[in-house]
Amino acid sequence: MSGGFPYKTFRREVLGVDLLVPTTRGIRVPYIHFDNAASTPALKPVMEQMQEFLTWYSGVHRGTGHKSMLCSQIYEQCHTQIGHFVQADLEHDTVILVKNTTEAINKLAGRLRFSADDVVITSEMEHHSNDLPWRRHARVVYTRVDEKGLLDYKHLEKLLQQYYPHVKLVTITGASNVTGHLNDLDFIARLAHEYNAEFMVDAAQLAPHHAINMHPHYDSRHIDYLAFSGHKIYAPFGSGVLIGSKKTFLQGEPDIIGGGTVNMVTPNLITWAGLPDREEAGSPNVMGAFILAKTLEYLQSLNLHSMAAYEKKLTDYAMQRLQTIPGITIYGAEPRLGVISFNLEDIIHNQLGIMLSFEAGIGVRSGCFCAQHYVRKLLDEKNPSSLSYTSAYAMDNLPGMVRISLAAYNTHDEIDRLISVLKQIADHPYYYRKKYPYSCIHGNYYPRDKNLQNWPYHFTESF
Ligand SMILES: Cc1ncc(COP(=O)(O)O)c(C=O)c1O
Repeated sequence: MSGGFPYKTFRREVLGVDLLVPTTRGIRVPYIHFDNAASTPALKPVMEQMQEFLTWYSGVHRGTGHKSMLCSQIYEQCHTQIGHFVQADLEHDTVILVKNTTEAINKLAGRLRFSADDVVITSEMEHHSNDLPWRRHARVVYTRVDEKGLLDYKHLEKLLQQYYPHVKLVTITGASNVTGHLNDLDFIARLAHEYNAEFMVDAAQLAPHHAINMHPHYDSRHIDYLAFSGHKIYAPFGSGVLIGSKKTFLQGEPDIIGGGTVNMVTPNLITWAGLPDREEAGSPNVMGAFILAKTLEYLQSLNLHSMAAYEKKLTDYAMQRLQTIPGITIYGAEPRLGVISFNLEDIIHNQLGIMLSFEAGIGVRSGCFCAQHYVRKLLDEKNPSSLSYTSAYAMDNLPGMVRISLAAYNTHDEIDRLISVLKQIADHPYYYRKKYPYSCIHGNYYPRDKNLQNWPYHFTESF
C-alpha cells in the first residue's frame, strides 16, 4: 500500500504520532492528526539538528564572533537551499524569508507598485490571504469556479482579454485548502504570460505535498512569484517564503525599513542593502530558516514524487471509503491533494468536528477555512436552501464543512478509524447531537460528559 514510499519509517520520524488523547469512552486513544492543511507536525531528525545548531545560535549579520559568523553563513545558505527546493532561478530570483504565506503575499502586494489602471486576477477559490492583500493595492477581479468548484479556465482567459493590457498579475493557489483541488499551473502560467501578465502561485498547500518547479524565466511555464509557509511543511518556528524576481524588489523602497535593510545612513541619505537583506528588516529568524531548510533537505532525501504517490493512494482510499457513509456530501473534484471537505446530513460541521475529537481522538478542522467565498459557492451549489451563508443567522447554524487533510505519515488504518466513527454518527445522529450540545457562553459545541469538559484546560497545567 506504500507505493514505494517508506511511510512507516517516515511516520517514526514524525513527532506526536503516539500521543494519547481522552475520549467519551473513558479511555485514551492514539491521536489522529487529520488537520495537516492547517499545520503539519515537526520531524525528529530536524529537531535533533536544531538542538545541535542551537549551541551556535547567535545574531545574524551583526557580529564578528565565531558564532555570529557561522550563523550568518548558515542563514544565507538556507536561502539558497530553499530556492533549490522549488527550482528557482537564483541568478534572477531572490528568496525572501518572512513569517508565513500571508506575510509573503502582503509583502508582494505592497512591492509591486500598481498604477491606477492595474488589475490583479485571482480566483473564487482562494484563501483570504491570496485575496485581501491585493484588494488594498489594486483592482481585483475573480476567475469563476464552476459547479464542482474547479477553476473556469475559459473565464480566466476572458478576463485576461477583457482587461488587457492592464493585468499586472494573475495569482492563483497551487491547490485549494478546501477541496484540495490541484490547478493546472503550467497552463495558467502560459496564459498569463501570453497576455503580458506575471504569474504568482500561493503554494501554501501545494509545497508540502508536490514537487514544485518554478521553471526558468525564459520558459512560458515560469512562476514569477511563489509563497509558502514552513509550518505547513513540517517546519514550525515561524518561517515563510517569498520568491520572486530581483528586479521587483530592487525597485523603490522596502515595505518595512530599519536595521539590516541599509548599507549607509546619514541624516539626509539612505542607501539600501542588497537582496534579500533589504526585504528582511530587523534581526532575522535564523532558527526558523535553519529548520525550514533542513526539513526541505530531509523531504527531498525521501523523494517527493514517491511521497506524493503515497499520499494519492491514501487520498483515493479515503474518498472511496467516505462515499460509503450515509448522508455524506463531499465537495470538489479530481485532481486533488489529500484535502477533503464534507458535510453529514443533520449534523452541523462544528458539532461533527467536536464529535470526531471526543469520540475517536481525530483532529480535523470545521468551518470555512479562511475561504468564505469558495465555501459559500460550494454550499450553495449543493444545497441552495440550507446551511448557506444567506440562511445562516445563529452562531450554531453558521455555514461550513468538515475538512480532513492528510499527509505522508498518515495511514490507511487511521482512515478506517475515521470511517468507523462517521458511520456510527451517521447511523445515530439524534443520539450524538444530544451528547454534544451547544454552549452559548463558549460559542461552540462541547461534550456533555463532565470528565471531558475541562479538557484541554486541566492538561495544559502540566506545561
Ligand atoms: C491556500 C492557502 N494560502 C494561504 C494560507 C495562509 O497561510 P499562513 O497562515 O501560513 O500564512 C493558507 C493557510 O491555510 C492556505 O491554505
